[in-house]
Amino acid sequence: MSVFKSSLNRSLLISFTATLLVRASHATSLPFNRTECQASTTDPLQGCPLGTLLVGTNATNTSSFTSIQSAILSLPRDNSSATILILPGVYEEQLNITRPGPLNLLGQTESPLNASSNTVSVIWHEATGNDVNTAPTLESSLTGSGPTGYAVPANISFGTSDFRAYNLDFTNDYLPYSAGPSLAVGVSYANAAFYYTRFFSYQDTVYVGKRGNAYFHQCVIAGQTDFLYGFGTPWIENSTLLLRGCGGGITAWKGTNTTTPNKYGVYVHASSVVPANTSIAADIKGKCSLGRPWNSLHRSIFAQTYLSEAIRAEGYTAWSSSEPRVDAVTFMAEFDDFGPGWDLEGRKAGNVTRVLTEEEWFSFSGPEKVFEDGAAWVDEE
Ligand SMILES: *[C@@H]1O[C@H](CO)[C@@H](O)[C@H](O)[C@H]1NC(C)=O
Ligand SMILES: *[C@@H]1O[C@H](CO)[C@@H](O)[C@H](O)[C@H]1NC(C)=O
Ligand SMILES: *[C@@H]1O[C@H](CO)[C@@H](O)[C@H](O)[C@H]1NC(C)=O
Ligand SMILES: *[C@@H]1O[C@H](CO)[C@@H](O)[C@H](O)[C@H]1NC(C)=O
Ligand SMILES: *[C@@H]1O[C@H](CO)[C@@H](O)[C@H](O)[C@H]1NC(C)=O
Ligand SMILES: *[C@@H]1O[C@H](CO)[C@@H](O)[C@H](O)[C@H]1NC(C)=O
Ligand SMILES: *[C@@H]1O[C@H](CO)[C@@H](O)[C@H](O)[C@H]1NC(C)=O
Ligand SMILES: *[C@@H]1O[C@H](CO)[C@@H](O)[C@H](O)[C@H]1NC(C)=O
Ligand SMILES: *[C@@H]1O[C@H](CO)[C@@H](O)[C@H](O)[C@H]1NC(C)=O
Ligand SMILES: *[C@@H]1O[C@H](CO)[C@@H](O)[C@H](O)[C@H]1NC(C)=O
Ligand SMILES: *[C@@H]1O[C@H](CO)[C@@H](O)[C@H](O)[C@H]1NC(C)=O
Repeated sequence: MSVFKSSLNRSLLISFTATLLVRASHATSLPFNRTECQASTTDPLQGCPLGTLLVGTNATNTSSFTSIQSAILSLPRDNSSATILILPGVYEEQLNITRPGPLNLLGQTESPLNASSNTVSVIWHEATGNDVNTAPTLESSLTGSGPTGYAVPANISFGTSDFRAYNLDFTNDYLPYSAGPSLAVGVSYANAAFYYTRFFSYQDTVYVGKRGNAYFHQCVIAGQTDFLYGFGTPWIENSTLLLRGCGGGITAWKGTNTTTPNKYGVYVHASSVVPANTSIAADIKGKCSLGRPWNSLHRSIFAQTYLSEAIRAEGYTAWSSSEPRVDAVTFMAEFDDFGPGWDLEGRKAGNVTRVLTEEEWFSFSGPEKVFEDGAAWVDEE
């Protein structure tokens, strides 16, 4: 399909996707077969929905965009659905997703169910900067510091209701060790889902901020210090957390004041927490904390997750010895974890980790129970 032809089809696409949007509010999977769209074919867009944009490091007649962000910026700022297919390559850029409509970013691959075979790598190098950020405005994405953080005004309108990334790698390689926040991904005032996607940084790799609902499925998230941080709601399913060292905690969460009731917090389910490699494994044995409270309203749960021997006997830890930030509401919890890093006696002795009963776990036991508007945008493949 030529670029010229796809732009002619734009108005057709919009009326076509209006129908799909209605379906999408009830459906969980994409309205097309992504395996066919992502496969490497003579016409790379074969199998993709009409109007799919193509990005390649080498512009040809089929790929009119040489950066992913230029393709994103070409889309109308409205509620229409869009899909972007990205050809193999290393893209040195920062992605900002601010439009409200559903957007799918697909990496070309022959192995759509294997993140280790991803062919598309997006790289950014910046202290405090994101590699990919999903938020309607810059202000709505701000983190702030201290126990309360940045006071985002209450009048921000919600951003995208359905952003999805499949088979992409996001790296913020500011420095090869913890040196302040260097985010690979940020999500605020948006629903964003990542499948078979890998995130690499050392500190604050994943940030989910105010009214951020983020779903991760079969992903890899690598970090050293506080590498899941924020005050929104990520659900991490069947994924690998790679420990590149131990600093702070794996999760650094805080309570949030929003106008919308939600079960903010970080939920890691049916996943694995393992050292990044065997040499680091020897250095960090028994040293990594599951998390610490950015403020005392921290909520996080590791459930039915494999914990390697890198995890400390007490599980979670206080913020610091001089400022523990742990009180009766602090909710640093586990349910049914296993592996050498699971130590019930150690958890009891530490007195900061809550070990949940099945009944206590039940009200958090699925993404539809914790995201503010349910999980209709979650693809459970
Ligand atoms: C999607 O396409 C692949 C490759 O053609 C095929 O194997 C698979 O069965 C299709 N999936 C569905 C749900 O149709
Ligand atoms: C690209 O353009 C060439 C020359 O016009 C044409 O022969 C070829 O089929 C085009 N390729 C695709 C994939 O559209
Ligand atoms: C770029 O695309 C052109 C036309 O398809 C091709 O001849 C060339 O080998 C490509 N270059 C690279 C570096 O892929
Ligand atoms: C997009 O949809 C939302 C929710 O239905 C609506 O409030 C908003 O006005 C729509 N925006 C545009 C640009 O159509
Ligand atoms: C993304 O947003 C940030 C913050 O507004 C800005 O500094 C950066 O230039 C933006 N990047 C792109 C590619 O638009
Ligand atoms: C996934 O891809 C990696 C890298 O190509 C390969 O080594 C591995 O065997 C693949 N895993 C499966 C289950 O196919
Ligand atoms: C929530 O808002 C109240 C009132 O503005 C403020 O006193 C409190 O510190 C806030 N708490 C958090 C955790 O942001
Ligand atoms: C939102 O509120 C801030 C101050 O709280 C104000 O400066 C801004 O103009 C408001 N924006 C809109 C779109 O109403
Ligand atoms: C192991 O991982 C650490 C942390 O990312 C890294 O510094 C080190 O170079 C890695 N070692 C090997 C042998 O890959
Ligand atoms: C994903 O789930 C399968 C099936 O339960 C399990 O074997 C695998 O270890 C899980 N992956 C991770 C990274 O935990
Ligand atoms: C800490 O110890 C107190 C006193 O025994 C107990 O009430 C509380 O539940 C313990 N907290 C945790 C998280 O184990």
